[in-house]
Amino acid sequence: MTELKNDRYLRALLRQPVDMTPVWMMRQAGRYLPEYKATRAEAGDFMSLCRNAELACEVTLQPLRRYPLDAAILFSDILTIPDAMGLGLSFGAGEGPRFARPVTCKADVDRIPVPDPEDELRYVMDAVRTIRRELKGDVPLIGFSGSPWTLATYMVEGSGSKAFTVIKKMMYTEPQTLHALLEKLAQSVILYLNAQIRAGAQSVMIFDTWGGVLTGQDYQQFSLDYMHKIVDGLLRENDGRRVPVTLFTKGGGQWLEAMAATGCDALGLDWSTDIADARRRVGDKVALQGNMDPSVLYAPAARIEQEVAAILAGFGHGEGHVFNLGHGIHQDIPPEHPGAFVDAVHRLSVPYHR
Ligand code: CP3
Repeated sequence: MTELKNDRYLRALLRQPVDMTPVWMMRQAGRYLPEYKATRAEAGDFMSLCRNAELACEVTLQPLRRYPLDAAILFSDILTIPDAMGLGLSFGAGEGPRFARPVTCKADVDRIPVPDPEDELRYVMDAVRTIRRELKGDVPLIGFSGSPWTLATYMVEGSGSKAFTVIKKMMYTEPQTLHALLEKLAQSVILYLNAQIRAGAQSVMIFDTWGGVLTGQDYQQFSLDYMHKIVDGLLRENDGRRVPVTLFTKGGGQWLEAMAATGCDALGLDWSTDIADARRRVGDKVALQGNMDPSVLYAPAARIEQEVAAILAGFGHGEGHVFNLGHGIHQDIPPEHPGAFVDAVHRLSVPYHR
């Protein structure tokens, strides 16, 4: 087993005792950091940055140099899988992702390959190996993937969406086509995450950013069932240590019991769910990660501290909390503010662990 100097994050996910609440931030590497923008300019564009293991490692480490975060997250994207499936991914300036060849019918689904993670996605595994080497055991490395449903929204819509009418039309007129796509994605995600774990990811997180746009019944059938399948297919131990799995459905606060029943170790919460209520509902089964509104980071340090204190008090005394934002950090947050946030979590959480 490789020694870790700080394993608070892994211990909290397994609901084991810690000295203070661990904290990291969703999308902690990114455009709010001037050093990120400089490295991205050096790479040329976003996907070239993801494909260059040394530069991906550099931007992964940038937020850790500024703030005493308790985990690093692989610098990559959830859309690497659809890209490896041949859909032609591009990121237009200021536009978000776009696919040149979206999935429109069953024949498209049948044509799509399940990517070999050590071939088409080898650059991701190389980044994982490089980051683990450079972290030198300081903090654990988180690997990640999108959920099948969330990946399918981009693949069928062809870009980001607000109303998801294209994929919902498929869902209600050709459900078998969508199920075939989700099945292929679930198989691809299992291979992809297991390869990240073998390459050195010490926990994995599944981002279901768009599960919350579904009805309860559709969420179960088109998103949660496939995440459950993934949880069942994952390596749960590597290098002599349990590899915790976190599920995050944005807007999924009403379905926490069903999510916890998948056998995952932790649930990510957005800020629309009360963390005290979440703990009462599922806290004896899973750890909880979250859940400060990322917009609080616009506020001065005293206001950030107030919000951190309220969330810590909401979770209460004892184990099983990883502090985080309820979604990704905004790109215009002043880079000093996350410092006040991380410091407040560490300082104010100590009494809750005595
Ligand atoms: O520190 C980290 O967390 C970095 C790794 C990371 C990125 N994307 C880098 C990225 C992670 C974990 C993601 C996940 C991701 N990607 C999600 C799920 C999490 C969430 O935010 O809901 C989703 C839905 C995507 C898809 C995606 N990638 C979109 C919609 C966009 C464009 C929007 C935007 O923020 O520009 C991206 C691009 C992207 N992924 C950037 C980064 C840093 C910005 C690219 C740039 O440098 O211009």
